Amino acid sequence: MPENRSRRPRILSGMRPTGRLHLGNYVGALQNWVKLQTQYDCFFFVADWHMLTTEYAAVGDLQTNILEMVTDWLAADLDPSACTMFVQSRLPEHAELHLLFSMITPLGWLERVPTYKEQLENLKGRDLHTYGFLGYPVLQAADILMYKADAVPVGEDQVPHVELAREIARRFNHLYPRVFPEPESQLTPTPRLPGTDGRKMSKSYNNAIYLSDPPETVSKKVAGMMTDPARKRRTDKGNPDVCPVFDFHKIFSPPEIVERVNRECRTAEIGCVECKKLMAGYLNCFLAPIQGRRHALEQEPQRVWDILEQGTQKAREVAHATMAEVRAALNLI
Ligand code: TRP
Ligand code: SF4
Repeated sequence: MPENRSRRPRILSGMRPTGRLHLGNYVGALQNWVKLQTQYDCFFFVADWHMLTTEYAAVGDLQTNILEMVTDWLAADLDPSACTMFVQSRLPEHAELHLLFSMITPLGWLERVPTYKEQLENLKGRDLHTYGFLGYPVLQAADILMYKADAVPVGEDQVPHVELAREIARRFNHLYPRVFPEPESQLTPTPRLPGTDGRKMSKSYNNAIYLSDPPETVSKKVAGMMTDPARKRRTDKGNPDVCPVFDFHKIFSPPEIVERVNRECRTAEIGCVECKKLMAGYLNCFLAPIQGRRHALEQEPQRVWDILEQGTQKAREVAHATMAEVRAALNLI
């Protein structure tokens, strides 16, 4: 029996250190992590090396961004006594496993990863014709397989990366004595939450609402949100199904309010100004406890670093054990 089969199933997931998290990051991943920590043996890590595969030229704020993001993790209620949080670059074992996997990964597998060509096109202004960027999914496979994860909670775009990790595990186990179980993707259920302008919520689009935005900022951003573009005057009837404000209501407001907005928007009984105020109120209620925890953590950033250090030590034990097996399997010792 592999060592982690006798315990709770193990989950591993990572996030690039982008700094303060927005509501899209929350509903797309973090909220799910908070739930998973009670059911699984969870490892959550800061994917700082992954960040470098595209942001290699902008490393100035890296440590601040790690601190801000992990502060948000804790504020959102990731609990260091329930899950293991660590920083990828503190564990050189990930680099070693990446190197060894790179020996057995055909180039064709990497060139076929759909995000590869897409990102080359999309992230203009950066030269991504690098060795590190092509090999990025091999690094991700090392992250996942190092912990012999049973499942990897990811968004749809990341599924091919987990698939590649499975193929690398299979190939490794075929060439050498078996070390790695094949991990499953666990698709994160994500409700639709657009940015304030109706496009996907993103830091770079300047349309994001952050977990740490104070109530006045939230209210101001909500007041400026796009609505049903066909509803120009107060007396026009609206269609909540095409309105980003309604997407927010569905997530943050109680069912009776969602039902009321759904009805009164269509009959023009409620106006957009009132509808937005209502939503901002519920959104601020949702954010209040998160921000309470955040303010406490901001007083003692060292606590956040200590939590990461302790998590890194726990992760290191697993990484050491796996690398001992891997080196033995490759006849390196
Ligand atoms: N590639 C992921 C992203 O950009 C982050 C990541 C790195 C990851 N390693 C991982 C996610 C391992 C899940 C498992 O979002
Ligand atoms: Fe959107 Fe609300 Fe205006 Fe309807 S009333 S268009 S749901 S903001």
